[in-house]
Amino acid sequence: MLRPGSREAGHPDIVPVDDEAAFWDDHPAVLACLREPTPRIPAWFGYDVLGSQLFEAITRLPTYYLTRVERRLLGRHAAEIADLIGCGRVAELGSGTAKKTRLLLAACLEHRPTTYLPIDVSREMLEISGAALRAELPGLAVQGLWGRYEAGLEWLRNGSREPVVVVFLGSNLGNSTPAERDALLSDIATTLQPGDRFLLSADLQKAADTFETCYNDPPGRSAFAEFRLNHLTHLNRRFGADFVLDHFYPRAHYDPATAVVEGHLYATEEQSASLPALGLTLHLQPGESINVGFSAKFHRPRFVADVARRGFALQAQWIDAVWQYGIFLFHRT
Ligand code: TRP
Repeated sequence: MLRPGSREAGHPDIVPVDDEAAFWDDHPAVLACLREPTPRIPAWFGYDVLGSQLFEAITRLPTYYLTRVERRLLGRHAAEIADLIGCGRVAELGSGTAKKTRLLLAACLEHRPTTYLPIDVSREMLEISGAALRAELPGLAVQGLWGRYEAGLEWLRNGSREPVVVVFLGSNLGNSTPAERDALLSDIATTLQPGDRFLLSADLQKAADTFETCYNDPPGRSAFAEFRLNHLTHLNRRFGADFVLDHFYPRAHYDPATAVVEGHLYATEEQSASLPALGLTLHLQPGESINVGFSAKFHRPRFVADVARRGFALQAQWIDAVWQYGIFLFHRT
């Protein structure tokens, strides 16, 4: 359980930018999602420190190619990317372990002193990744911003007017609804000043079976199952809910019509779960499900146009040889 405030004195390098303790207990946000026709758990709610660690296990699955391809692109082009973004101040949305970002930050330090501003909902994750980064890159200044994306961006808006690069990796833009994506891109555009850079990665559209393989556990592995079921464990812990994990079956599907992978927890039997802290009881019939995550897949030209429409111009792109995945550099116009 996170107890914001209590350990603040020991961590001057982490600023709570969100509504202090309140965001994990943001009842209205979680309640609104759970009340949708297919109940949904918001993406950020999955990333308590355990969720972040379970997510790491997904990135090590042989079938989950996103992290591997992105790391290869970053490794190969880090010097060029660092040169183009100019570095100085690098803010990252949803930094997690920041393992891939390390490649970029190391290249940045070759150019000039750099301050890294990771934004993450898990304070522990910020502590762990901050310590690892300081040990590995002694020249790097790290200032963690603890909270949701919007709060981190607001903190940046209200702070220094020095140029800043916003980095958003992992194709994480796809992990929200179209309305949330719209709002987030506008928020980033409002935060940046003309000339500031925005580095964004996107997993590109491909055959449906590729995604079904990528987003489900291969035989003998359970990383996706554990990550998805942890959403219920987290609800149980935080809201005193009584979800029985054994009564759910995780499965992801790709819908080519919407180009979205949806991860669901399917009820294996008729059941009710109560969430006393939210004043909610969920009734589920066998086969009904709870949505525990979107991954929208991008059509490159439309993706670039969508981002550009919010006030950006594409400056460079790095795409792997078989056009699976791209890293795109925009600047604020
Ligand atoms: N953006 C990545 C993806 O869509 C990683 C990710 C974030 C993810 N949240 C997720 C993967 C939830 C699976 C489930 O793959």
